[in-house]
Amino acid sequence: MSLVPMKQILDEAMKGGYGVGAFNVNNMEQIQAIMEAARRTASPVIIQASRGALKYSNLIYLKHLMLAAVEENPDVPVAMHLDHGNGLEVIKQAIGLGFTSVMIDGSLMEDGKTPSAYEYNVDITKKVVDYAHRFGVTVEGELGTLGGIEDGVGSGQIHLTDPTQAAAFIKATGVDALAIAIGTSHGAYKFKAAPALAIHLVEDIHRRCPSIPLVMHGSSSVPRDLVDTINRYGGNMPNAMGVPMESIQAAIRKGVRKVNVDTDSRLAVTGAVRKVLVETPEKFDPRDYLKPAREAMMTVVEGKMKDFGQAGHAGDYKPLSLENMKKIYEH
Ligand code: G3H
Ligand code: 13P
Ligand code: ZN
Repeated sequence: MSLVPMKQILDEAMKGGYGVGAFNVNNMEQIQAIMEAARRTASPVIIQASRGALKYSNLIYLKHLMLAAVEENPDVPVAMHLDHGNGLEVIKQAIGLGFTSVMIDGSLMEDGKTPSAYEYNVDITKKVVDYAHRFGVTVEGELGTLGGIEDGVGSGQIHLTDPTQAAAFIKATGVDALAIAIGTSHGAYKFKAAPALAIHLVEDIHRRCPSIPLVMHGSSSVPRDLVDTINRYGGNMPNAMGVPMESIQAAIRKGVRKVNVDTDSRLAVTGAVRKVLVETPEKFDPRDYLKPAREAMMTVVEGKMKDFGQAGHAGDYKPLSLENMKKIYEH
């Protein structure tokens, strides 16, 4: 069993100076795609599920898929993380399911849309830290807001993170990792003109808080070839644009350790399914399109594991259990 607290994976990434992709999942094929990519590249892995994913998979299925991933891959450190938790109720639910890490996104109110006051964010985040650390579970907080509205996650407005406030927030809440807003947004339409990120904020926040791994949401690159495949086979995604890999790598060099990716996986899956259905309209066995979809996502994830630098690091350390981590928090 190598289900580890996310803190261990990120602290090790900090020591090694590399980034770790956190890939969203909703079903078996996506989890298998990530684990196959991890096996091929010998990478530590962060699998994450949103509130929407918990609802879609009916919780219990996700729990057992996570356990299957770990059982099948004893040599890969895996953290199971709740993405964009919006209150104590879902945090408790995720920890009850066996997740080893949770995000409390207190930058937004409980509706997942309205930007919150700093005081609200500190208060809810501290409550989650106090609860989660009792179980050895890692906590990611967020300060600043991303753009893009995706199924209720995101305010639609970008408020970049203030470095002075970030340092105060980390001190007041005791979070293990901090998501910062540097100009990205969720989804496939991140920029209208040339992509621009506030990398200097990563550097500034990392300088003030060198022991806290920073998290970059909205990190899909929306590769041209994936969008072209979708459009070639009947899709309609004009002007889709993501974060160039060089910008992500620049952010990793300055202190980003967790890199959130969902959209690129969705693009890979959708393109592969569309291609099969358009080219071979006589097919109706789901395996005929789900298998290529799984392979397409695996290829995307494998490339990112290499590009983020996590490849080759799966065997660097002995996995810690939540019990081990509980003791570390108690001291
Ligand atoms: O941050 C948002 C992730 O892409 C998850 O999206 O809420 O549609 O599952 P979702
Ligand atoms: P993308 O939409 O860029 O893949 O971002 C995903 C994310 O931040 C999940 O929390
Ligand atoms: Zn996000």
